[in-house]
Amino acid sequence: MVAAEGKSNAYGEVKDAALAVRGDRIAWMGSAADALALARTQDVAVTDCGGAWLLPGLIDCHTHLVYGGSRVEEFEKRLCGVSYEEIARAGGGIQSTVNATRAATPEALLESATRRAECLMAEGVTTLESKSGYGLELGAERRLLEVARELGRRLPLSVRTTYLGLHALPKEAAAARESFVSQVSGPWLEVLAEAGLIDAVDAFCENIAFSVAETERFLHAARRLKLPAHVHAGQLSDMGAAELAARVGALSADHLEYLSASGAAALAAAGTVAVLLPGAYYMLRQTTPPPVPLLRQAGVAMALATDCNPGTSPCTSLLLALNMGCTLFGLTPHEALAGVTRHAARALGLQAEIGTLEIGKRADFALYRIDRPAELCYNLGANPCTGVVYGGVARRFKS
Ligand code: NIG
Ligand code: FE
Repeated sequence: MVAAEGKSNAYGEVKDAALAVRGDRIAWMGSAADALALARTQDVAVTDCGGAWLLPGLIDCHTHLVYGGSRVEEFEKRLCGVSYEEIARAGGGIQSTVNATRAATPEALLESATRRAECLMAEGVTTLESKSGYGLELGAERRLLEVARELGRRLPLSVRTTYLGLHALPKEAAAARESFVSQVSGPWLEVLAEAGLIDAVDAFCENIAFSVAETERFLHAARRLKLPAHVHAGQLSDMGAAELAARVGALSADHLEYLSASGAAALAAAGTVAVLLPGAYYMLRQTTPPPVPLLRQAGVAMALATDCNPGTSPCTSLLLALNMGCTLFGLTPHEALAGVTRHAARALGLQAEIGTLEIGKRADFALYRIDRPAELCYNLGANPCTGVVYGGVARRFKS
């Protein structure tokens, strides 16, 4: 059974279906009977998926996968009532991961990021986005982006890199805010882009991080280099970051717990994807979920991601994010699954390449032993993924 988008039934499923792959592309889709007849006359290898559901490879479109250290002590503090903002303002939070990341070797960063990526891949993830932002100086940011690129070379996984230049003001720049933003938006951005390390940029636009004006400056500099943008917007307050994301034509605005009707309308008009991150909402024990009915009504495409990071979402399960998207944010399983396939592809600007099963797209699939797609959102802790095909090559397969 193949689940393809664009058919009349809710999930677009096609029963007793088959796909043909040539090179790393989907070359043909049709019935299993036709495929078997064709296979008898041609020299092709046939794989029986044993009645599994075949979905497009999952896409985790927002992660901070590469970092050093852990924030388990901060987790304990938060459980004792200290808030995320208080910890950040006292020099902990992101800054503590920056210290651990700067002290880590590239080998150690690669090793820990590989372990996290493998958890995601085991569930059927074939593409993920990886942000920098825990270096906050040129050398350390470069290292994070290089490790992310290396991850994509070593693993059967497509890795998109994002330069999260404005994540936090590093302690050494505490008295030189303007000059930090200038460096990030000028020479650092240019050097990293020139080195081919950046697929997109991102900024944390928030009262404990960077203002709308600072973020806008960085995003305009990126646009001059033809780099697309993501924005951490509305995670803790509504500063108008969603409107900014729309104004600069960002691919995505991410988090959006605090979002006005005009912000949602602006995202819809700009075609900016709302990336919802229930792992962070859950870990911070927030109580204001993103306004999903508003986003739905405005016609904003919604993606879902893990936000895998040591501070707010130490989550290496996109299936868990699917469940949380439904239980905490009120998405339907259908919306949640679109959020980790075609809408996630759009959030990365890769909708022509991945995210749906269509002829000409990259042959990235995940196979699941389930009775219906909603099971991927329903189970807590089970991993029904029985196989992954990446770029036309079966990487793990149980028939
Ligand atoms: O997406 N909000 C900013 N960035 C991350 C958290 C970073 C951290 O606390 O280390 C997020 O939640
Ligand atoms: Fe994030």
